[in-house]
Parts: sequence; structure tokens; C-alpha cells
Amino acid sequence: MSIAEDTTVTNRYLSGNFRPTYDEITAENLEVIGEIPADLQGHFLRIGPNPYYVPDIEKYHIFDGDGMIHGVQFENGTATYRNKFIASEGLREEREAGHWIYPGMNMYGELIAKGKMPNGKNTGNTAMVYHNDQLFALMEGGTPYRLSLPDLTTEGEHDFDGTLTHNFTAHPKVDVKTGEMMTFGYSPMPPFLTYSVVSPAGKAVHSKEITIPKGVMMHDCGITENYTIFPDLPLVFDFDKLMSGESMVGWDPDNGFRIGIVPRLGDDSSIRWFEIEESFLFHVSNAWEEGDEVVFQACRSNRGGIEATEGVDMTEQFGQLHEWRFNMKTGEVASKKLDSEHYSDFCRINDNLAGRKNRYIYSARFKPDGVAVFDGELKYDNETGELQVHEFGPGKESGEAIFAPKVDAIDEDDGYVICFVYDTESGASECHVIDAKKFTDEPVARIRIPHRVPHGFHASWVGR
Ligand SMILES: [Fe+2]
Repeated sequence: MSIAEDTTVTNRYLSGNFRPTYDEITAENLEVIGEIPADLQGHFLRIGPNPYYVPDIEKYHIFDGDGMIHGVQFENGTATYRNKFIASEGLREEREAGHWIYPGMNMYGELIAKGKMPNGKNTGNTAMVYHNDQLFALMEGGTPYRLSLPDLTTEGEHDFDGTLTHNFTAHPKVDVKTGEMMTFGYSPMPPFLTYSVVSPAGKAVHSKEITIPKGVMMHDCGITENYTIFPDLPLVFDFDKLMSGESMVGWDPDNGFRIGIVPRLGDDSSIRWFEIEESFLFHVSNAWEEGDEVVFQACRSNRGGIEATEGVDMTEQFGQLHEWRFNMKTGEVASKKLDSEHYSDFCRINDNLAGRKNRYIYSARFKPDGVAVFDGELKYDNETGELQVHEFGPGKESGEAIFAPKVDAIDEDDGYVICFVYDTESGASECHVIDAKKFTDEPVARIRIPHRVPHGFHASWVGR
């Protein structure tokens, strides 16, 4: 019996709609409730962990799973669904052997204690980026995988013509005006942080080590027209804890809370560090410049962690929309909550505005039961402070939603907010298309997906 069918599995990231699926299918002309708008043309993509082999069910961590990409292609009022594993070299080896080879991250400690260096698998399971007319699947511990569209086939690892010298974050930022892509890699060993700018033609043309005191799990970054922003927050790699069987990263407030702002083509000599209050953030919404200030918006939590921490209310680790302003002249920092009511994460914007002032933020609302599952979508207005909630309804679970601009869009929110929705009662999956200007209304289209789409991580939009 596979894990997908075993109802006795207690690891929550292998049960419910986190269970993996193994079929890779293409389904055309899908059934639609409502109508797919004619001005929605392109690919909605969502990636996530989908383990083919699980070495140890109790020790499985959600970050471990092989990557699987799910796509819904919208074309002339029709929808086509496809899903495929990210065909990593590690998965190929394991399938050929007929069993697992790569340990999960919660097994690393015992292996190191036995003198064996664990071998990590580059799963490509976390997020995607579209740059230089190419789609990449990303995982922060590895090199990007190039994927084909529309069929989602893995074409191989991509090191930008040999110019990439470090691990590649799952959250690079593309400046659509210049075509540059800002990225970084972090490491538990020195150099702890390396920053790169990839040219519009797809070569890393500026790679610089940035000095930070310790190796930290730095999951995201921000850009403005002139700067790149690094959150150095103390989710610190701790080898002693790892060897004693605890999480490989731990919350260590003594390491401090800093936001680094470096000119786009700058380095250690030109980075400026700002101290902030005790905070953590996984995901950046956007950043921009306003006069002397750099405005930085993200989903902020009181502390960081990649597991439930004993004795700590999970909401301490859940994000809320937040804004910091860093004055580049005076060094002053201003900090304010944008939303003190809802916990949310996977904050997204109209990606055409990355690094420029945006009015709207879309963010996935956590279910209130302390499990990392979403059940609503927020739309926040930076101009009015208004917050709207799109409810998916009882028994429905959602995921990251992206903003897809209409063909010929004029306003920032001329477009659609799209995500997968899982019905916990029927076990069915749908893709919902919400008119961003009528955010609280019923979706304009609900596309029935002919098999279950497990919960995953990040989504992307590639317009036609
Ligand atoms: Fe992420």
C-alpha cells in the first residue's frame, strides 16, 4: 500500500491533502463552473513536495518531498491541466534503484553523529521563476531546473552558462523593466551569503559575498529600482542541536535582527544594515523607494521556525502583513502592522511591479487551527488600508494564489487571482479564477481538475 492510500499515517505532511499523488496526466477541455474569461491567456503553475519514496514516515519533513508541478493552461476560454514530477537526478537514481537513497533532513543529525555526511537531493520543489523566456523550478539548496512549456518536462539543471557559483534561492526577483534577475544563495558554511545579478540574457554578471555573522535560513529577498534587500534574521544553523536530534535550524535571538540594503551592483562595502525589532519573515511582498526611504512589505511573524516549537503557540510563527520603512539618509526605521486580524503568508503582488510601488497585496489566510493550511485569500490596499477577504467556504482548503493580469490590462488589479482549492469532504480539487476587482464575489470560473492536487508551496503565472 502506498502512503497516498494509507489512512493510518500520522505525519500531518503525509496525510489529508498533503498525501502525494503518483499519476502524471494531461486533461484537456476541462469541465468549468462559470466561464473562463477570454482575456485570461497563459499558464497558472503550482509546485510542491510530492515524495516518491519516504525513508522514514515519522521523520518526513515537508521540505523533503520530490518536486511536482501542476499547471492549468488557459487558452481561448478553455483549460488544460497537466502535472509532472520534477525529474531530478536524485529521483532518477532512486526510481532506478527501486528504493530511497537520499535521507530526509530530520535524519541528517543521526547520520552526522555516525560520521556520515548526508547527501541532499536537489528536488526543485519550492517555487518557480520565469526569466529570459525560460521557466525554472527552484529549491534553495540547489541549482535551478529548466522546464518546458506547456508540457512541464524537466530539461535539466541550469547554471546560467557556468556563471552561477552558489545555491539559488527559491525567491529571486525579476525587474521587468530592466530584465535583470536578482538572486542569492545561503549556506550553513562560509560564505554564508552570496548575492548575484543575472543579466537579461541569462548570465550571472555580478556575484559578491555578503558578510553576515552566522549561517541562517534566509528564504526571500526584496528589490527596489536601485537596491536589493536581505533579511538577516536568526533562524540559525545549529550543528550541536542537529546532532542531538533537534531541528537543523534554531531560533537564536542573540544573533540579532538586521535588514541589509545593498545597491543593485553593490557589495559588502556598500551594504547598509538596519536593526529591527525581534521578528522573522519567510516571504517578502514587495519593496520600493519613496524619497529617502526604502519601503519593505512582508509577512512578519514574532519568531521563526520550520517545525512546531514545543511550548510555543504556532501563531507566534505565522505571518501577518507588515511594513518597514528604512531611511537611507538618517538611518531611522519605522515599523507598522498592515493587518493585525488575520494570519497569512505567501503574499503576492502584480509581478510587473516588483521593485516599484504597488497598491495591492494578495495573501493566503491561515486556517485558525494552528496547522499550516489556508482557507481564504486576502486583498490588501496600500492606498486606503482596506482589507477584503475572499472566503472559499466550509471544508475548503486553498493555497498560494497568484495575480494574472488580463490581456490588455490597464489598472494594477485588472486581472484574476487564481489558486487551487481542495474540498475536504469530497476529496475533489478545483482551480478557482477570481476577478481581482470583484474580490469577494464568487469565482468567475471553477475548473474541475480530474484528479487530486495535493497541497504545495508556491505558484506562478506565465502569460501567453
Ligand atoms: Fe517560499
